[in-house]
Amino acid sequence: MDEPSQSMANMWPDLIKKAKDGGLNAIETYVFWNAHEPLRRQYDFSGNNDLIRFIQTVKDEGLYAILRIGPYVCAEWNYGGFPVWLHNMPGIEMRSANNIFMNEMQNFTSLIVDMMKKESLFASQGGPIILAQIENEYGNVISSYGDVGKAYINWCASMAKSLDIGVPWIMCQEDDAPEPMLNTCNGYYCDQFTPNNPNTPKIWTENWTGWFKNWGGLDPKRTAEDVAFAVARFYQNGGSLQNYYMYHGGTNFGRTAGGPYITTTYDYDAPLNEYGSLNQPKYGHLTQLHNILRSMERTLTYGNVTSTDYGNSVFGTVYSIDNTSSCFFGNANVTSDATVNYQGVDYNVPAWSVSILPDCKTEVYNTARVNIQTNLMVKESNQAEDEPASLKWSWRPEINLEQTLVQGKGQVSTGMIVDQKVTNDVSDYLWYMTSLNVDKDDPILTDDMSIRVNATGHILHAYVNGEYLDSQWATYGIFNYVFEKKVKLNPGKNQITLLSATVGLQNYGPKFDVVQSGISGPVEIIGRKGDETIIKDLSLHKWSYKTGLHGLDNKIYNSDSKFSAQWNSDNLPLNKMLTWYKTTFKAPLGEDPVALDMQGLGKGLAWVNGNSIGRYWPSYMAQEDGCSTEACDYRGSYYSSKCDTNCGQPTQRWLVSHNIFS
Ligand code: GAL
Repeated sequence: MDEPSQSMANMWPDLIKKAKDGGLNAIETYVFWNAHEPLRRQYDFSGNNDLIRFIQTVKDEGLYAILRIGPYVCAEWNYGGFPVWLHNMPGIEMRSANNIFMNEMQNFTSLIVDMMKKESLFASQGGPIILAQIENEYGNVISSYGDVGKAYINWCASMAKSLDIGVPWIMCQEDDAPEPMLNTCNGYYCDQFTPNNPNTPKIWTENWTGWFKNWGGLDPKRTAEDVAFAVARFYQNGGSLQNYYMYHGGTNFGRTAGGPYITTTYDYDAPLNEYGSLNQPKYGHLTQLHNILRSMERTLTYGNVTSTDYGNSVFGTVYSIDNTSSCFFGNANVTSDATVNYQGVDYNVPAWSVSILPDCKTEVYNTARVNIQTNLMVKESNQAEDEPASLKWSWRPEINLEQTLVQGKGQVSTGMIVDQKVTNDVSDYLWYMTSLNVDKDDPILTDDMSIRVNATGHILHAYVNGEYLDSQWATYGIFNYVFEKKVKLNPGKNQITLLSATVGLQNYGPKFDVVQSGISGPVEIIGRKGDETIIKDLSLHKWSYKTGLHGLDNKIYNSDSKFSAQWNSDNLPLNKMLTWYKTTFKAPLGEDPVALDMQGLGKGLAWVNGNSIGRYWPSYMAQEDGCSTEACDYRGSYYSSKCDTNCGQPTQRWLVSHNIFS
């Protein structure tokens, strides 16, 4: 995978420090198998993949760590974190009691565990890791795997246990997690959750602070009041540990975004935004809550609990030990405020809020009363440039299409149409090429001919006889489509060239790993004359394949590429597909995060100083409707589209490129 070298890793200390200042005492991270084992038994723990360095940085800040190894991780990450070579192992069945898969999973999981042990990073060794996770939300899909699913999850548990890490293992969203695995909750609210073993702590692994975004989709927002309400209620109802998903979501650099169709930004409306800046008032409002909860640690941990039902969804909870007690008054009613009388004093508790009284006398916090100022991020032009508006661009065509690919000269050929995953996902791009000989008397040669391609794309560009024909792409959630366009074929040989581009591989769902990508077929030529329709199915023709693009293969985005001199500075083409554009600019002054404005571009991949900063697609507008003009009402259960913004705007206009210059 193309990754920016050190750029993210440079941000870790600052992000972790901000999390600590935000009142957190643990940092949770997934481990991305496809980043660490991009080729079988070839490992990468360098730069951004330096997991040890990450955990050490957490430790250096004096925080705990929670390591969600998975190694299936979902996370809107390409292929849920699975390396695509796994898919191509003969006989493999993923997330299943299949020896080939289990062997690979065990190999990777034990590798990670051994690395951690070697550096003494588990709490049992004096290190920061207090919990580790195996699998991810398997309970959501187990029924689709039948009995094998149960056997698999039992195997996961005993395999994990055998690794003997000295701290508990968790399994999120797994109601029948086998002991000693702890099952944990993911969701917007987990106060009603009880673990399957009542003697184990109530853990919330994912408190969704917002939601992710897809190309064409809107910007989800979740209010600070509602997140705080969910957290306070969780601790009111006996919660032991909750983790924000995400506290900082950041950016899906390179080709790490999955989905398909997840945007490059993974901002998530998290307390630390994509740029690593404070998202106020969410960050500040939650900081106050954390500090107050932590000040009550003793009563919450060791106290006796008494609860009172005041009716109308109003509950009081008192934690007491010795002569100290702490109180929560929660009002889950969506519309009516409440007055709670406790020991002769009236307390006003607004609808959908929790009040906290660390000494049961003085209300120091109410989740609906926000006293942190909202902040707005301002984007300033590059002060280091004299005339930042006038960047000078040069360009080069991706390739001379007529001479090469459209003539069908690929790297391999076979008599069928293949799933794009056979390429091990080394690139978004795969060329599918075939030819068709048509006799001059063939009845298919009519004035009304078309080509029809069944695709799961996600993007398809079609060329016939060296000419560009047309393109089509999917919309989020509907990845199968039929491309059908009029064509004119000639007697004799005709060349069909189809370029398929993926926009992140499936990361979630039952058997998500076998969801097809690329051109699924059939590919047909259709001739119509009067009532007669003749169809030629090209699916079993000889197809020739080529992965990638010339410019990608030759890394022409690097300044030391052998093609670095061959760029044109005149006649900059506009609205032209498969074109490379290049410019230089002075590194912005100061330390502020840097964003690139991609407005005006179509779809592609961008690099800064050779580092891939992700896919861009600013021409893909977010849907027109679904945004409210009124302020978001924090009251009532949240759902991901409740408070959407950004209607009718580019789905993602800016790409983040911080610290890439250092
Ligand atoms: C959860 C999953 C996470 C992430 C989240 C949505 O179900 O465990 O990995 O995908 O949904 O952002």
